[in-house]
Amino acid sequence: MAATLDYDALLAPDLPPPAPVWKGFPPYNFIGGNVDAASMPVEDMIAATATALRREGATLATYGLESGPLGYRPLREFVAAKLRKRSGLAVSPDNVLITSGSNQGLDLVNEIFLRPGDTVLVEQFCYGSALARLRRLGVRPVGVPLDGDGMRMDLLAEKLAALASEGVKPKFIYVIPTIQNPGGSIMPEARRAELLGLSAEYGVPVFEDECYADLLWTGERPPAIAALDDGNRVIHCGSFSKTVAPALRVGYIVAESGLIARMLACKHDGGTGALEQMMLAEYCRTHFDAHVDRVTAILKQKLDAMTAALEEHFGTAAEFVAPEGGIYLWVAFPETVDAMKLAAASAGAGIAINPGPEWSADAAPARSRIRLCFGNPTVGEIREGVKRLAEICHREFGIPLRSGNIERA
Ligand SMILES: Cc1ncc(COP(=O)(O)O)c(C=O)c1O
Repeated sequence: MAATLDYDALLAPDLPPPAPVWKGFPPYNFIGGNVDAASMPVEDMIAATATALRREGATLATYGLESGPLGYRPLREFVAAKLRKRSGLAVSPDNVLITSGSNQGLDLVNEIFLRPGDTVLVEQFCYGSALARLRRLGVRPVGVPLDGDGMRMDLLAEKLAALASEGVKPKFIYVIPTIQNPGGSIMPEARRAELLGLSAEYGVPVFEDECYADLLWTGERPPAIAALDDGNRVIHCGSFSKTVAPALRVGYIVAESGLIARMLACKHDGGTGALEQMMLAEYCRTHFDAHVDRVTAILKQKLDAMTAALEEHFGTAAEFVAPEGGIYLWVAFPETVDAMKLAAASAGAGIAINPGPEWSADAAPARSRIRLCFGNPTVGEIREGVKRLAEICHREFGIPLRSGNIERA
């Protein structure tokens, strides 16, 4: 009998390591961008799908329905209306490209701008998957430190000047200005204007990721950077993953027509899933605002449960700034805590956390930080999971000083 085929000898040499085998979610799941299961609007989604299918189900017969490759037109119209209302951004539906999750938006922007050896400026602590994408392309992410108002413009100016003196022109500046991931900051309007000024001075575009911008406790926020832009300097992206459901895989990119056409030429998936787009357009038209209000109220309760549990079980050993929205808490421990080791030890005990170094342009500043997602676990799981995490952290690093409840001074 012939030997079985050796695929390893045939596979491309520069592949990432194989994905691990899926073993189900851990009991205390504080990773990823998962959202609240109990608030999934299942009945309304069923009704919206049925309405859309009865009305125009026959259009599924052609790629892109009858809307063309940019995506289902009623959904692009909803995105344009939502952006005008919530982000102060006036755009035509013709400048909205529906993507298969905003991650595909990141891939398309990367594809049209980046080649190995290029440089991209990012927030020092930044969306881990965006960093991983850049590194996989052989692109150098250069981190700019943040403060409570997001990326620091004085340090961005320094970095741009230093790179220019080396003859390096970064391809773009990637920012998450409204509920930053992982830190949760909201960049004030004046700083957004400064960023546009630096973009103009150095001729470097801004890539604005507003993945979490609709999940605000108060609803108050400055206009999107794209809304303040009068020089075609900003590419904007967003998503329905955090407001409605990540498994739908629907996001969007907003840019001027020439760039959209470039991205479209690289979007090889034959179109983003049509049923999801039809359902979302139908559902969001009448339910989006009320749904987002309901979801943010639940998320705020979960955040409160998480901060209370951290205070109870870690005391002053856990430092954080409670965000004004979103689904993450960015926690700093004393420097004796090695977050990579803590993540490995807690994974063994059924607690999944994101270690800071994976969310950082340079690992060292995030050595003792972790990101906790409070979107998907229940309040009970948050309380118990944080308690168990404190026990593990105490066992591994002696921090908090003693496990169990921290006595109040
Ligand atoms: C900042 C940011 N951008 C983009 C994404 C990608 O989201 P999706 O592809 O589900 O729209 C995420 C997901 O967590 C994110 O945090």
